[in-house]
Amino acid sequence: MTRRPRQLHFNVHVSTGGNHEASWRHPRTAPVRLSSLAFHKMIADIAERGKLDAVFYGDTPALSDNVTYRPVEQLDPIALHGALSAVTHTIGLAATVSTTFNEPFSVARKIASLDQLSGGRIGWNIVTTSNEAVALNYGLDGIAAHRDRYRRAEDFVQAVKKLWDSWDADAIIDDRANDIYADAGRIHEIFHEGEFFKVRGPLNVPRSPQGRPVLIQAGSSETGMAFAARHAEVVFTAQRTLEDGQQFYAGFRRRVIENRRDPDRVRIVVGLSPIIGGTEAEAKNLAAEFDELIAPEYGLRQLRGFTGVDLSNYPLDAPLPADAFPENETVETHRSRTALVATLVQRENLTLRQLLQRMAGARGHQTMIGTPEQVAERIEEWFSNGAADGFNFMPAYLPGGLTDFVDGVVPILQRRGLFRRDYEGATLRDHYDLGAPQ
Ligand SMILES: Cc1cc2nc3c(=O)[nH]c(=O)nc-3n(C[C@H](O)[C@H](O)[C@H](O)COP(=O)(O)O)c2cc1C
Repeated sequence: MTRRPRQLHFNVHVSTGGNHEASWRHPRTAPVRLSSLAFHKMIADIAERGKLDAVFYGDTPALSDNVTYRPVEQLDPIALHGALSAVTHTIGLAATVSTTFNEPFSVARKIASLDQLSGGRIGWNIVTTSNEAVALNYGLDGIAAHRDRYRRAEDFVQAVKKLWDSWDADAIIDDRANDIYADAGRIHEIFHEGEFFKVRGPLNVPRSPQGRPVLIQAGSSETGMAFAARHAEVVFTAQRTLEDGQQFYAGFRRRVIENRRDPDRVRIVVGLSPIIGGTEAEAKNLAAEFDELIAPEYGLRQLRGFTGVDLSNYPLDAPLPADAFPENETVETHRSRTALVATLVQRENLTLRQLLQRMAGARGHQTMIGTPEQVAERIEEWFSNGAADGFNFMPAYLPGGLTDFVDGVVPILQRRGLFRRDYEGATLRDHYDLGAPQ
């Protein structure tokens, strides 16, 4: 299959109420029921109008203890994407499902079913879930060690891939005259026996319309990157500076090659949460309005969730000491995000209040404040200088933050020939221009 000229890729990272933790309180945020299909369809329709690659939903199967300060309800991703696949046409649907709190056969079947129902528009964001509260919902006293979560994920994904491949693409014959629906010889048991899972198969859902659902992953620790280099076709990452982005990009492509995979068939997608205004002053005013609505207690709890560290005993307006965060190898939760936060504190000598404000916008992902032209400049700079193939666009508020991007930034990128003017295919694999599964 001929590769298309390299173009940008965009997902919208939907966080109920907007990615800025306090934007839900702002008059610009639409007061709609966040668990309604109408809300999610509205977001998907705007993303589809902007010709974006996919709507992406994160997932943590536990209620955040920040429900006082922010809308944190999360619909089950399989149910939500099932509904969205019925009310959308071309936009990709990226769902997050954990390898720690599920079984391979069930996940392979659910994701394959969504892929059939959506006509091949599904991506699976593979997470190992490092949130303590989730373990307590599944009869455990705590989360497994970082290393063990990834060992289980490796066995899990190998089993799922084999199940998805257990039907040859031409297994269904549908020969009614000769009473042959399918050629059983083209449907295969997998007899998977791994460290954690034993699965006979085959799957009871035929081969995906796109060959296989798209595999997505977001681990940036050593272990996480090694796992992603073996399996991921799309990699999400949090990078704050161009140099950090370039280093991750080059390093990750090297790992893909070491795994005898084609790096040009893997997309590296960086988180970006801009606040956009008609003028820079307008954008700055809006950002200040959001920040004024922040509850410090929220930020402290969130940082504890990522890093496992409670910073509430530190004075708000004194620089945080370098040893405020543990040695990275000892972090069992989000290792890469903890490293990112510790580097940020050290690099800029931040006080606790300043750190909370920096994390407020997008949980450590890249933020910026500016006009559509300035946002387009930043995007083109990262795309053209080996730091990103695309972005997880994280609207600070909804739906306005997304329409600002679709109506303000996308047309600029289209005029510059950097982004599609229309979809070139029907499946998520087409949107990312990945070709057949490697
Ligand atoms: C864009 C992005 C989205 C993520 N979404 C989720 C999520 O929905 N659920 C989850 O448990 N972890 C999520 N993560 C966390 C990752 O899956 C992973 O645990 C984290 O990046 C730390 O990985 P590491 O310890 O290998 O560095 C996300 C990370 C990124 C960068």
